[in-house]
Amino acid sequence: MDLIRLTYTSVAVDGFQAEDLRDIVAKSQRNNRLDDVTGFMMYAAPNFTQCLEGERPVVKALLKRIAADPQHTDIRLLASCRLDTRQFADWSMQLLHLDEDALKLVAPLCEQYRLDLANRLQPADEDRLMGLAEELARLFGRRREAGSRTAPGYG
Ligand SMILES: Cc1cc2nc3c(=O)[nH]c(=O)nc-3n(C[C@H](O)[C@H](O)[C@H](O)COP(=O)(O)O)c2cc1C
Repeated sequence: MDLIRLTYTSVAVDGFQAEDLRDIVAKSQRNNRLDDVTGFMMYAAPNFTQCLEGERPVVKALLKRIAADPQHTDIRLLASCRLDTRQFADWSMQLLHLDEDALKLVAPLCEQYRLDLANRLQPADEDRLMGLAEELARLFGRRREAGSRTAPGYG
């Protein structure tokens, strides 16, 4: 087993809509379940932050496919590391959609993790991002066994 975790940020193109996000997440959850890829996708318009966990060749191939997607641009790698165990084992692709209301709701948590989600995250933020995402996924997410839908307001 050669597990890795890869985290990147990117920016949605102009005109990107909540509906497009739902399509991406539905596709991702279906494909990632088949490929045994886990992780989360945070979207705080216009910024994506995604974490992908899985077998190295699978994750690398997925990143290539994602990077070619015209719905976003300016992909920047935050971190890439070997993993012994998955941190997001229960999430085939947990959407953390932080719209304006959700951002207000989670502001104290973001402050606690010293993360400003209104701006693009940096490589130095990655450790704290993992902690925050885990808390958010626990708060708002649904486990992959429960199906592919995400919680209302966060899906
Ligand atoms: C920010 C972003 C993240 C994405 N993440 C994933 C993902 O985790 N898994 C996935 O299969 N597709 C993901 N996609 C979609 C892929 O780029 C691609 O459209 C999709 O995998 C094609 O799937 P299909 O062959 O089933 O239509 C993502 C797209 C974007 C813009």
